[in-house]
Amino acid sequence: MLGGVTIVASGSATPSQCLSNDQISLRVDTNDEWIKSRTGICARRVIGPHESLTGLSKQAGEAALRMANWNADSLDLVILATSTPDDLFGSAPKVQSLLGANQAVAFDLTAACSGFLFALITASQFLKNGSMKRALVIGADQLSSWVDWNDRRTCVLFGDGAGAIALEATSAKNEGLLGFTLKTDGNRGGCLNLHKSKEFLPLIEEKSHQKGGFSPIQMNGQEVYKFAVREVPEILESLLLSNKTKPASLDWLLLHQANQRILDAVAERFSIPQSKVLSNLANYGNTSAATIPLMLDEAVQDGRVKPGDLIASSGFGAGLSWGAALFKWQGPS
Ligand code: ACO
Repeated sequence: MLGGVTIVASGSATPSQCLSNDQISLRVDTNDEWIKSRTGICARRVIGPHESLTGLSKQAGEAALRMANWNADSLDLVILATSTPDDLFGSAPKVQSLLGANQAVAFDLTAACSGFLFALITASQFLKNGSMKRALVIGADQLSSWVDWNDRRTCVLFGDGAGAIALEATSAKNEGLLGFTLKTDGNRGGCLNLHKSKEFLPLIEEKSHQKGGFSPIQMNGQEVYKFAVREVPEILESLLLSNKTKPASLDWLLLHQANQRILDAVAERFSIPQSKVLSNLANYGNTSAATIPLMLDEAVQDGRVKPGDLIASSGFGAGLSWGAALFKWQGPS
């Protein structure tokens, strides 16, 4: 018999360097008006010389543990959702070590901007089936390392950050994760990529090997936009239907923060008022796997999200991948 899972705490961390639209326009041919009107973004954070993705992930995780009032060594699982680890073998083990989560198994999960949602659902399976009791799910990305800072079509969109939530196993009747759907369509993956670079180096006579390294992010913005405004409402609608939940009964819509126009289009489709749509992309841009927990933590910290609130969330991005989850914010006991 499956049990339930509750979301008991959140945390977040962002780099100290802030880059405004006006400052980006010193680098590429763009301007504040274009960026704001097309995306809603005003500024983003960029990891500087004294910070790291691992460090931000640790800070976000620590903040969630503090809110939950848990010792790190009570964790069974740490999942780090990221597409930009400091170590390609995985950065989660380092985060586990920095946190002192000595009993936890820790691994990275890669699903671009859907990563946090995919990690949340993955972690919840271990808790629901009774094999684990406590999990920390961190979403963190450093896309500033992988955009072409001379390409105005992409560099204005992204920022760095980390967010985390603490999850605990509970009884089925206290279930906080009411439903979810996850999707992938690799056939459409070509519109958003961070490919391995194509350079081959000579090895011995007539043999070569591929050099490590990646090419900058390539994106067909319009295709990604169309994908998001088509698939996100559809997946949310089927999730709400299968959970017999009316959009009007949601307390919050918590979408991946990619573009304010996408948030507005989805909210409009369900007649959800702006006051119930969580948005902080003006300050952070698209932080990929971090956007959802970063936004959740901000709204928990400032008292907008309260214990018992019903939240519909959707992540979407490269893969193409997308997903949705319906959950209650429980908060610490
Ligand atoms: N500043 C000024 N002009 C610009 C800029 C810029 N930063 N970027 C593009 N332009 C110009 C283009 O060159 C083009 O000019 P042209 O008509 O002379 O050729 C014009 O603006 C229009 O460009 P479009 O690409 O058609 O602009 P659009 O309205 O589609 O907006 C945007 C672009 C903001 C990228 C939009 O398509 C979008 O948000 N798409 C979704 C992107 C997204 O969410 N990506 C993240 C997915 S998550 C993940 O997995 C990482």
